[in-house]
Amino acid sequence: MKVAIIGQGYVGLTIAVSAAEKFKVVGFDNNEKIITQLNNGISHIEGVSGDALKSLISKNRYIASTDSAEIADSDVIVIAVPTPLTPERRPDLTYIESACKTIGQSLEKTALIINESTSYPGTLRNFIKPTIEKFSTHKLQHQYAISPERVDPGRTDFTQKNTARLYAGLTPDAAILTRDFYSTFCDILYEVSSPEVAEAAKLFENTFRQVNIALVNEFAQITHALGINVYETLDAADTKPYGFMKFSPSAGVGGHCIPVDPTYLATVAEEHGAPATFIRRGNEVNLEMSEYIVGRVVADNGGSLQGKRVLVVGVAYKANIADVRETAAELIIEHLRNQGAVVSWHDEVVGNWKGESSSPLQGADIAVVVTKHDSVDEKIILASAPYVFDTTGKVSSQYGL
Ligand SMILES: NC(=O)c1ccc[n+]([C@@H]2O[C@H](COP(=O)([O-])OP(=O)(O)OC[C@H]3O[C@@H](n4cnc5c(N)ncnc54)[C@H](O)[C@@H]3O)[C@@H](O)[C@H]2O)c1
Repeated sequence: MKVAIIGQGYVGLTIAVSAAEKFKVVGFDNNEKIITQLNNGISHIEGVSGDALKSLISKNRYIASTDSAEIADSDVIVIAVPTPLTPERRPDLTYIESACKTIGQSLEKTALIINESTSYPGTLRNFIKPTIEKFSTHKLQHQYAISPERVDPGRTDFTQKNTARLYAGLTPDAAILTRDFYSTFCDILYEVSSPEVAEAAKLFENTFRQVNIALVNEFAQITHALGINVYETLDAADTKPYGFMKFSPSAGVGGHCIPVDPTYLATVAEEHGAPATFIRRGNEVNLEMSEYIVGRVVADNGGSLQGKRVLVVGVAYKANIADVRETAAELIIEHLRNQGAVVSWHDEVVGNWKGESSSPLQGADIAVVVTKHDSVDEKIILASAPYVFDTTGKVSSQYGL
């Protein structure tokens, strides 16, 4: 059986190496640089090693390609392309649309087409299937299914193998084929009655995180105003064995999921006349954290940052990965610069970002810790500036959330 994975990013490459243990896999991506690297056994994704890639390539189990002819004879096609927001912060399905066009124009036989990209309920039925059919050169009737991805990049305790996998088919046959495919490399499969349920469940999982992060971020502001320690208070609340789940305050939310997916849910809710007030306000609270943090830094430093050398420590959106998509560091840097600060950043996991390189972790007037990678020594952070503001709860500075 031949499997093609459209998109070789965080999701697509992870699924490709799992599937390649059993099947012949083509990793298709329209980014030439990524494809060249992958075919040379160089991985750009945490959790997928270059050695694993080299081994699969040498066994003829995996090739990466930008050539759509390579997917023509696939039995299974998995879509794993970005689903961002437009500049107006509405769902942007242009990557899915272009993937569907490639699939429709290239496939020369009927296949099972599974969407793993996150989108709103109805995307598989009302967008993916008709778009592929519209572009189908051979007017083929494929099977369609959804299996929303839950991979958490960098995580080792819950992986693709031991995290329950939701799935649903547009037809009973599609559901059976989907189960057969994933059961070769996933331990727990959970079928739901329609693709819309699977699509909505994925959005709700991430919305749950988004609103709880917003709540704890608001709580951190309340505890500061009351003069009590937020972390100690959360640890105390967390001793309750039921009805409470601990979330930690932060500079905001980042990555491709938590800042984005809830807006897909809010948009489709509002289109159907249902309110999404929690989701909308959650987004605002998380975005406002950067301004709140910079306001605290300004207040602690005599009311002005004019000309001060400020080092932002950690610009990845979370610890131990190089992903900077939607990172809260961006807004923090913007607010610091608006206050007249001379801002640089340190993050050797990221290395280069927006045309700038990671600066040394030393010699600043002020340091603001946005992300604390395990590889960065806390003592060096504390020695990098006389004033260190910690947003992570991992650096024992007297200033922080
Ligand atoms: N990253 C995560 O942790 C995560 C977790 C669960 C779900 N998701 C969802 O999975 C989807 C993919 O996310 P990702 O993080 O893997 O994105 P990514 O940006 O890491 O990778 C996407 C890849 O798709 C390629 N691409 C874009 N359009 C293409 C096309 N038409 N044909 C071929 N390749 C194309 C890009 O070049 C890129 O390499 C999104 O919907 C995301 O919301 C992501």
